[in-house]
Amino acid sequence: MQPGVAWIIGGGSGIGAAVARLLADRGWTVAISGRRMEKLQEVAGKHSSIHPFPMDVTDEKAVNATSQRIVSELRRIDLFLFSAAAWEPMTVGNYDLGQFRTVVDTNYLGVIRCANAVQPQMEKQGSGHFAVVASVAGYFGLPRSAAYSSTKAALINLLETMRTEVAPRGIVVRMIAPGFVKSELTAKNDFPMPFLMETDDAAHRIVDGLTESDRFEIAFPKRMVWLMKTVRALPYPIFFWLTSKMLPKQEN
Ligand SMILES: NC(=O)c1ccc[n+]([C@@H]2O[C@H](COP(=O)([O-])OP(=O)(O)OC[C@H]3O[C@@H](n4cnc5c(N)ncnc54)[C@H](OP(=O)(O)O)[C@@H]3O)[C@@H](O)[C@H]2O)c1
Repeated sequence: MQPGVAWIIGGGSGIGAAVARLLADRGWTVAISGRRMEKLQEVAGKHSSIHPFPMDVTDEKAVNATSQRIVSELRRIDLFLFSAAAWEPMTVGNYDLGQFRTVVDTNYLGVIRCANAVQPQMEKQGSGHFAVVASVAGYFGLPRSAAYSSTKAALINLLETMRTEVAPRGIVVRMIAPGFVKSELTAKNDFPMPFLMETDDAAHRIVDGLTESDRFEIAFPKRMVWLMKTVRALPYPIFFWLTSKMLPKQEN
């Protein structure tokens, strides 16, 4: 993929910000969105080719208006990257409806709102890459992560469907599944995070993965990916024995 115009949701911090900086270094013009203008300005202030467009992905009108603004100011959207998420560790066995609503509205419906706003523009252009940061947490149902993990599983499933359906329109759908990466999001975690990666390392893997081929799945680090995929493939009695060991000590 040659440098063009990218739009990154969640570009004010963590993985999204690191990807925005790296793309800008490699000649891209980058629009970044998120709710906190000060975080967007912090990232954009250091690069003349990064532009802040504050927006909340749970607001359909704002998503459509922002998409139109970006096209009118930057002319096109060659690469869209959804790198936003709501995440809070959950109490074991408590399926709080309010918490689920926020997580589903942001992580899952946020992607649908953006797809509806961006894909018609890509279709008009005759090309575009629609990429979403899911997670290895979507490979199976993780204890303490009921809402987050299930939205990531739903995203992987959705993107598989989308990849087939929108390919004839010239749109290439990409799914990114990182393991643990240092960010504001993982700073909330009070449990061990195996193979925790630096944010810039994750950004390099994402940008190289996106620009060097059209493959669907960009998953890393490999040790974490294979661990998660192996657990997924286990017969259920062994799978549930193993996942029960992931509960906090007093629960198993
Ligand atoms: N870090 C990891 O270990 C890891 C692993 C696998 C997958 N991921 C995924 O990677 C992506 C980026 O996460 P991160 O680790 O870089 O964490 P992060 O720094 O917390 O980034 C999340 C971004 O999402 C934005 N956001 C949240 N709610 C939003 C909303 N309603 N509308 C618009 N923007 C919103 C936040 O900005 P505002 O608060 O300003 O809106 C923030 O910039 C997420 O999809 C996450 O699930 C992370």
